[in-house]
Amino acid sequence: MKKVLIFFMAASLMGLTASEVMAGGDTLFIQKCGNCHKSGGQAAAVNPADKAGRIWQKYFKRGRHPVEMGISDGDLETIISYLVDHAADSDQPAEAVIPK
Ligand code: HEC
Repeated sequence: MKKVLIFFMAASLMGLTASEVMAGGDTLFIQKCGNCHKSGGQAAAVNPADKAGRIWQKYFKRGRHPVEMGISDGDLETIISYLVDHAADSDQPAEAVIPK
């Protein structure tokens, strides 16, 4: 318990909110990418298993994404690790993660 408290105190000193600390890559992917990539949204559905891990690793860093996403660097890093962990060539490829 003490450790958890210290963790949150350190996190708040770094200016992070609890939601940023707590949100895992899957949640961030659904929330942030799903903002646009959902049915009825402005972009087609996107899944971690759409690409191989090494492609995801380079995709955003090389500016391949066609529009400004409004996602912080920290959140994007977390999302990229999640995409790589569930990419087409990973042990657990993930399709249709963003709810319809
Ligand atoms: C502000 C809206 C918006 C956000 C947020 C957003 N995208 Fe996109 N994305 C688009 C649009 C618009 C396109 C181009 C149209 C399309 O592909 O449907 C696109 C295209 C893409 C493509 C290319 C599709 C293809 O077939 O090659 C990928 C991959 C992609 N986005 C992944 C992501 C991921 C992963 C995230 C979260 C880190 C994300 N996008 C966040 C709007 C967004």
